[in-house]
Amino acid sequence: MPTLLHIDSSPLYGRSVSRQLTGAFVTEWQSSHPGGKIIDRDLYATAIPPVTADWVAAAYTPEESRTPAQKELLALSDTLVAELEQADEYVFGVPMHNFGVPSVLKLWIDQIARVGRTFSYANGTPKGLLTGKKATFIIATGGFYDPQTRMASFNFVEPYLRSVFAFLGVTDVTFLTAGGTSALNSGQDRDTFLAPHLHAVQTQAHAI
Ligand SMILES: Cc1cc2nc3c(=O)[nH]c(=O)nc-3n(C[C@H](O)[C@H](O)[C@H](O)COP(=O)(O)O)c2cc1C
Repeated sequence: MPTLLHIDSSPLYGRSVSRQLTGAFVTEWQSSHPGGKIIDRDLYATAIPPVTADWVAAAYTPEESRTPAQKELLALSDTLVAELEQADEYVFGVPMHNFGVPSVLKLWIDQIARVGRTFSYANGTPKGLLTGKKATFIIATGGFYDPQTRMASFNFVEPYLRSVFAFLGVTDVTFLTAGGTSALNSGQDRDTFLAPHLHAVQTQAHAI
């Protein structure tokens, strides 16, 4: 039975577009994968510290040589990496914050990019170790960043996620973007706005 890892990173909860869309994705995935397992990881409900020099030293110390204190430092990272290893498919809800990913998602990425666990440098060549996975990124942006538009080069969300996940071995990726959510703040009907995006995420959840 497949396992889906569901990660949200919007602080807006009930008002969040990305959370509503990942929720619809998960509901559809559940009905088209009966018996499938879901792991929920809410990055706003997880206290993720920035990495420190001691954390880096622990990560680069061979597992069998780590002190109890180093093991403790890596405990959260180990849990988050295990979720990625256990799941076959990933769905991420990602709000654009200041043209990039939200800080909680960057903190999570720093915890899961682990030498020997999610990537290696055998023979000096980087190799991603999260192979055979599929990822769907559901992005919400206040403005529009479609290719060929004036603001396209300001979009650091999709290129960044594409690069990081390729580095980790996840190359089967799909990006679905709900652009122009700022219209919801100036009277646009939410259901009307969301309808095509709900259709797109449900179609994707059914297809994978
Ligand atoms: C702190 C913050 C920074 C934001 N920065 C941008 C931005 O750089 N570009 C943009 O188009 N929208 C920006 N927005 C708007 C969000 O991308 C938009 O509200 C989107 O719907 C967020 O996803 P969510 O509804 O899932 O939280 C920002 C919103 C917040 C709260």
